[in-house]
Amino acid sequence: MTATIQIQPNTLGPTVNRNVYGHFAEHLGRCIYEGIWVGESSEIPNVRGIRADVAEALRAIDIPVLRWPGGCFADEYHWKDGVGPRENRPAMINTHWGGVVENNHFGTHEFMDLCEQLDTDAYICGNVGSGSVQEMMEWVEYLTSPADSPMANWRRANGRDEPWRVPFFGVGNESWGCGGNMRPEYYADEYRRYNTFVKNYGPNKIYRIACGANNRDYRWTDVVMERVGSLMDGLSLHNYTLNGGKWPPSGSATDFQEDQWFSVLKHALSMDDLVAKHAAEMDKHDPDKQVGMVVDEWGTWFAVESGTNPGFLYQQNTMLDALVGAVHFHIFHRFADRISMANIAQTVNVLQAMILTDGPRMLRTPTYWVFEMFKVHQGAATVPVSITSPTYSFAGEGLPAISASATQRSGSNILDVSLANLDPDQAHEVTLGHGGSSTKISGRLLTASTMQAHNTFDNPDLVQPVEFNDFAVTGESMKFTLPAKSILMLSIES
Ligand code: AHR
Repeated sequence: MTATIQIQPNTLGPTVNRNVYGHFAEHLGRCIYEGIWVGESSEIPNVRGIRADVAEALRAIDIPVLRWPGGCFADEYHWKDGVGPRENRPAMINTHWGGVVENNHFGTHEFMDLCEQLDTDAYICGNVGSGSVQEMMEWVEYLTSPADSPMANWRRANGRDEPWRVPFFGVGNESWGCGGNMRPEYYADEYRRYNTFVKNYGPNKIYRIACGANNRDYRWTDVVMERVGSLMDGLSLHNYTLNGGKWPPSGSATDFQEDQWFSVLKHALSMDDLVAKHAAEMDKHDPDKQVGMVVDEWGTWFAVESGTNPGFLYQQNTMLDALVGAVHFHIFHRFADRISMANIAQTVNVLQAMILTDGPRMLRTPTYWVFEMFKVHQGAATVPVSITSPTYSFAGEGLPAISASATQRSGSNILDVSLANLDPDQAHEVTLGHGGSSTKISGRLLTASTMQAHNTFDNPDLVQPVEFNDFAVTGESMKFTLPAKSILMLSIES
């Protein structure tokens, strides 16, 4: 069966908030240390301690926003231990992630330097679980106050005169779990109190993000929205894509067969229903959609690579991860009227990473290439798409083989259409009606010869996009064959 995709370019929908292409970097395993921070005395080329190769690769995907320092780590992080001369900073134990010693060498100044090097907005997650209201209040003052005040003067003494711009601040992480095992009623009261002291200093205006639910906990969304929805700008949601759709994480990221391929994609597609149900809870209390849904942790979570520290969550990354990424973005675009941000977990060396490092070497994963290909969707207006898809069948179950989304770039006549073929074996014919008289069409394709293909340090470019122009255009439509397990980005100019 041929897949039919019809786009209505004259009917623009809500804009895809560029922050949907956001990232998350936690003090976990080798994400911050080794992956991003090597220190000024490292032989690995760096700019003020931040790896130059990783920063350069991340700049190329236009990261709009970066969440830090956690994750579970955020609720045991005491920011004052991470400022001032590095040799004087006290160490701590990272109890959540491998029990390793955290030397606090990467702290507030280093993170804000990273954001400036990447030209990205900071999203800082504050400590509700084991911190205090005063500690959180003073962190915001330290970061953003232009005044002649104690915290702002301490920042100056530590080498930064100008306040930083901190547009996003999270009041706790997973407060229902590692952030304090709270009930939603209790968290709502805690949010009320902490949020009061998250102040706007000078011109800095904070978008306040409350801790939201874990996957299908709709009651959390309901209770928190009802009690404190009017005091927040965003409410988070965490949902990881799992083998078999079940916790705990299982299955190798590279050594798998089609049963895992199918179950992971089935779970990824269920994000649509999950977002719809949380959005419905939010609609009950916020019909005008003033509060954004912030999916600030998402992505695949497999068993760790063998021989690595189980607390470091290090996994490889294949075309399966790339497809999970593409499917998520298509879902996030569909809910562009509610989703204001999303942050994949995590940027380097942890879970569904963009970049993996090994000493001085680094590689870009297939997921990296999805972010690179899809960056044209950032801040663009959604365009309605109707899809008739062949079915990808496995073991008596079926999924739509083709997923697609279209956006119109602001101030131009360019329509960007991303497509994914989830079927690992069958290429599919596609007829795409784009509704315009196209003058110029370009395409880039990401695919691989096997389900398990991945980039390694010895062969870092095995999976990467290639130019695609194997299409036939007739008037307002075009035909092409979408290879098995592939992602295609078409840019159609009229
Ligand atoms: O991303 C890894 C962990 O997953 C985060 O620290 C936590 O918030 C979530 O449970």
